[in-house]
Parts: sequence; structure tokens; C-alpha cells
Amino acid sequence: MVLGHDRLQKRLRARKEAQLYRSLGSTVQGIDFASNDYLGLAANEVFQERVFDTISKQKSALLGSSGSRLLTGNSKYIENLEYKISQLHQVDSALLMGSGYLANLCLFSCVPQRGDVVIIDEHIHRSVHDGCQLSHARKWKFKHNDLNDLERLLSQADVNCYVAVESVYSMDGSFAPLVELVALCQKYQAYLIVDEAHAFGIFGWGLVSFYHLQQQVFATVVTYGKAMGCHGAAILGSQLLRQTIINFGSPFIYSTSASLAQWIAIEHGYDFLAEQRELPNLLDQNIRFFRQLLLLESDALVSPIQAFYYPGNANVRDKASQLVEQGMSVYPILSPTVTVGQERLRICIHTFNTQCQMSELVSLLNKE
Ligand SMILES: Cc1ncc(COP(=O)(O)O)c(C=O)c1O
Repeated sequence: MVLGHDRLQKRLRARKEAQLYRSLGSTVQGIDFASNDYLGLAANEVFQERVFDTISKQKSALLGSSGSRLLTGNSKYIENLEYKISQLHQVDSALLMGSGYLANLCLFSCVPQRGDVVIIDEHIHRSVHDGCQLSHARKWKFKHNDLNDLERLLSQADVNCYVAVESVYSMDGSFAPLVELVALCQKYQAYLIVDEAHAFGIFGWGLVSFYHLQQQVFATVVTYGKAMGCHGAAILGSQLLRQTIINFGSPFIYSTSASLAQWIAIEHGYDFLAEQRELPNLLDQNIRFFRQLLLLESDALVSPIQAFYYPGNANVRDKASQLVEQGMSVYPILSPTVTVGQERLRICIHTFNTQCQMSELVSLLNKE
């Protein structure tokens, strides 16, 4: 055995014993109730054709950018696109990143400084935790969407505080009370950071702009791998924030910039979403139909992520397997990704799910 591999084996064995072993299966076949392609853009042939048409005219776009953006990987094209994005979102600046994970890693690792505190919602995405781990700031957690708990922490801190939330939470589709969060952060002079991965494209360009909070929010992360059907992300905020990341953000500085093809797809993505205004309405109708079938009430805003709880990893795995056998593409969310006892099926509703498919899913969910 290669030296050191016994340690790897031991760790993986422990994971298997705890029923937490992850593996790359073949993509689950069946009706898509799992992907983040909420608006069906990743599979939209008109959109694909437009991106393909532009890229086929400059085939070099398909290959590497040749360097970090601080060296040879920058271009007028990226800077113009960033300007266009900042205008659309009505913010002072946008900085493109290769993915949402990298955007959070960059932001949280380089902006909060030693002595600062980052107060995170307990359901925040892993990328924020990883970013905080690379920073010298302390990390405190508040109970999910609990403004009283957040206020308790804010009132205890006498240093610079950053508050990190998702506008729509990835694991259960709950909404952050953004307007109230902004008010609370203003009261305590804390800097609010909002991850819009699951809101962007569904609620306009995201809920920060939907509620006109751009000037009160310190930084917003939008990602392009979900409703836009592309890949990448942007950090939105002030020019000073952009300059700070360009100067101190290791994942931005020390990594080759993505290929031009990725940025071209994003540019088309913005144009396509701006044209296809009926898609979010169609999604909204489908979510409401699905919830009605389950006799669930719907608020003014509904999210495409719907969680169904089956406590225990074995339990939720069994339920997922039952559904997969019946031709549904669903995935179980296991602990420790979520808290023990909160294991769930994360069902994603899309524009392309038919009423018949949703009815079938609901009858399977209702089955013991
Ligand atoms: C809330 C949230 N933030 C960030 C990310 C990372 O985005 P990306 O997939 O573009 O790396 C995800 C994706 O899982 C997410 O759900």
C-alpha cells in the first residue's frame, strides 16, 4: 500500500460505518425534482444555440484564459461584462468569480480581519464556513432566521461585525427576513452579506434588488449555476469592496481566470433572463400547484426548494430510493450536511415539471 494510504483507508472506513460515505453514482435518471436548473435554462435549446453561436465565432474562448486576472487572464470583455452586471443590479461594482463557492471563499477569507466577528445564520452554506476558516476573524452562529438571537450576539460584540445570510436557504427554501435584517444591522452598525444563490433569476436579479436594499447591504453574492443554467458568480458591492478583493482575495489572485466561454454564457444568460420574463411566473405557478396538492398554504413569495423530513440517514435514504425506483430524480440530504434528526428530501420544483409529474410525486410522498 502507498505510504500514508492506511490513514486514508481508516478514515473512509469510519465514514462507511457511520453510513455517511459519499460516492459519485451515475446521474439519477427520472423526472428532475433535484437539480438547481429551476427555470430549465441549462437545457434550453434556444439559449444553448445563442451561446454556441457566439463561441463558435471565437473558438479560443473554449480554452484557457492563460493566467490570473491580475496577469494575463483579464480582458476588456470581462470588465465590460462586470460593468453591465453592476448596472443591471444597480450597484457600484461587480467582480466575476469562477463559482459561487470561490466567491464566498474569497469574500469571507479576505474582508473580515483579525479581531472582527462574522455572525452567520446556522444554516449558511459550507462555502461561507470555509471562507471564515481561511480568515483570522472569529465566527459566531445565530439560530436560523432568529432576529432575537442575532440581536443578542450583535449587542455582545464591541468590534466590527459581518452578518452572513442566504436570501433563500439552499437546504429548506426558507427566506431570510432581509428588510428586518437590514434594520438590525443598521442599528448595530454591522455589515450585512447576502448570498443570493437560490434567489437570483427567480425573484428578478435577486431579493436584495427586489427589495431595493443595494445601498444598505455590504456585499451580495449572485451565482450563475442555478436559475441561469450556467456556471460562475459575481460579488456585488462598492468599488472599495472590489479593490479589496482584487488586492487581498487569494482565490481571485492566485488562480487562473475562467475561460472566456464561461463569461460569454453569463452575458447571454442575463439577456435571456431579461427576455424570458414569463419563466419565473411559470415557476411560481408550479410551486403553488405543488403546495396546494400537499394542502400547504403559500405566502406572497414561494421558493422552488421544498423540504420533506425523514429523520435518520437510513430512513431518508430509503424514502429517496423508493421514489427513485418510481422514476423520480430526488436526493436525500444526510447529516452531517444537515443537523442530525433534520435529514430530508430536498425537492426542487422547475418550470418544466408538469402537473401530472407533480401529482405523481405528491402521491408517492404521501405513501407510508
Ligand atoms: C447558498 C449557496 N451558496 C453558494 C453555493 C456555491 O455556488 P456554486 O455552485 O456556483 O459554486 C451554493 C451551491 O451549492 C449554494 O447553495
